[in-house]
Amino acid sequence: MGVSSRKRNGAGPWWQDAVLYQVYPRSFQDSNGDGIGDLEGIIERADYFSWLGVDAVWFSPFFTSPMIDFGYDVSNYLDIDPIFGTIADFDRMVAAFHARNIRVILDYVPNHTSDQHPWFVESRSSRENPRRDWYFWRDPAPDGGPPNNWQSLAGGSSWEFDARTRQFYCHTFLKEQCDLNWRNPSVRDAMHDVLRFWLERGVDGFRIDAVGCLAKDPDLRDDPPNPDFHPGDPPFARNLMVNSANGKDIMDFVGDIRSVVDQYPRDPVLIGEVYLKTGEIAPYYGPELGGLQLPTNFNLLWTPWKARPILDVIAAYEAVLPKGAWPDWVMGNHDQPRIASRLGKEQARIAMVMLLTLRGTPILYYGDELGLENIEIPPGRLRDPFGLNMPGAGQGRDPERCPMPWDETQKAGFTSGDPWLPIGSNEPGSSVEAQRKDEGSMLSMTRQLLALRREQPVLSRGSWSPLPIEGETLAYFRQLGKTRFAVLLNLESKLKRFSIAEISTGHVIFSTHKRDRHQAIRQDIELAANEGLIIAL
Ligand code: NOJ
Repeated sequence: MGVSSRKRNGAGPWWQDAVLYQVYPRSFQDSNGDGIGDLEGIIERADYFSWLGVDAVWFSPFFTSPMIDFGYDVSNYLDIDPIFGTIADFDRMVAAFHARNIRVILDYVPNHTSDQHPWFVESRSSRENPRRDWYFWRDPAPDGGPPNNWQSLAGGSSWEFDARTRQFYCHTFLKEQCDLNWRNPSVRDAMHDVLRFWLERGVDGFRIDAVGCLAKDPDLRDDPPNPDFHPGDPPFARNLMVNSANGKDIMDFVGDIRSVVDQYPRDPVLIGEVYLKTGEIAPYYGPELGGLQLPTNFNLLWTPWKARPILDVIAAYEAVLPKGAWPDWVMGNHDQPRIASRLGKEQARIAMVMLLTLRGTPILYYGDELGLENIEIPPGRLRDPFGLNMPGAGQGRDPERCPMPWDETQKAGFTSGDPWLPIGSNEPGSSVEAQRKDEGSMLSMTRQLLALRREQPVLSRGSWSPLPIEGETLAYFRQLGKTRFAVLLNLESKLKRFSIAEISTGHVIFSTHKRDRHQAIRQDIELAANEGLIIAL
């Protein structure tokens, strides 16, 4: 069964008008009482996505895996891990989503396999094994140490010595995540077949994990030191990943992936995980835009929450986008502290208004629509191997991966068993059930904004232009044909006055606060503390 490929506003492929939502399957809904979310649980919650009003769901991996990195260490790309269910469950899940006109996006992990993957088991068995060159095997340096200075993003060297064949293998992440050699054509063929397998089963696109890591320097030269390294930064930040990632031929690999997915109907989308500054993202769209349709833009995550730097980032990104390239925005994911913990509950609402009113495809992280905060995990219950590996990494990534609170019961409606991470200490009233009943909640506000985006193509398709900054009020226009909206975001908890010189009147379309819809607005506008306002001009 396929979803309708009708374009909502008739203007471009579906993923340009879509709002994407990321599910971390372990934490979404458990159906069998083992304390870990599963596909059956997701199916049970399918109506939530249509009620909320998102268009596509990206699932962090649920493929067969020893779960050392909770699924980002795949040992069989073509099956579902029994913790999550079966292929039959997967097919039912796709059907349930497509029946609701919601698309399904899988996580594709091409840079590395689990050390338990049969390819790696063969590769490590002897230097002569035909799959030896599927991974990076190198002799020790003359001093017996690793072949170069590359640092693992999960802590320590990127090289692990294997006593059996007396060589090192490369792992950009954990030593149980062994990097595939994408310069080997058989690796590329096998990994392209993975895409085909899932496209045949009806998926609508992929989020590509760590895509820049596919292209390493062919001579494996050292990475240069990072002049901006500060004590307290994670150890891998000592070097700039100049040779260990983002090599010259990255777009050949990406272009080939794109050619595979382009052979399928329904305009499958490729979202690529690239942690790059605005100026460095553009090449990932590819020559003649034959690369990633949506290279992820994480820049708002590391920009100080002040009007000037935020506006500069938005303007810089808009300015560097190649012709025909489509923007996207991210405010959270399973690797980043929760936005509500970074900004506080009030400004998390403002961040949501920004995410859903900037030009481009928003990618929402599960629970951010509830304003979930990081969860304090008792030390004995920490699970994230990155956090446990790297002293100084605090609680690692567990705090942003806690179970979805569906209701106000002790286990939050997530499980009948022992949840794999604590449900957390969110205050009463923060669950889906409670927030659905409260018109002023973050959830109700998010849903209202999503409905507004559907009704008002100007919010997805309109042009973006900044208004002059006044104090800590960030403001911009969106315009499509004759429809023009102004978005005003008060980044402080103080009352503000704001004036839009070039207009005489307008009316309120949306506010984070209680305000009369259609209230007339004149040139001088009073914004409440922490208020976000959308005005039709
Ligand atoms: C990026 C993923 O988002 C992260 O969760 C994972 O640990 C690494 N890539 C390795 O796959």
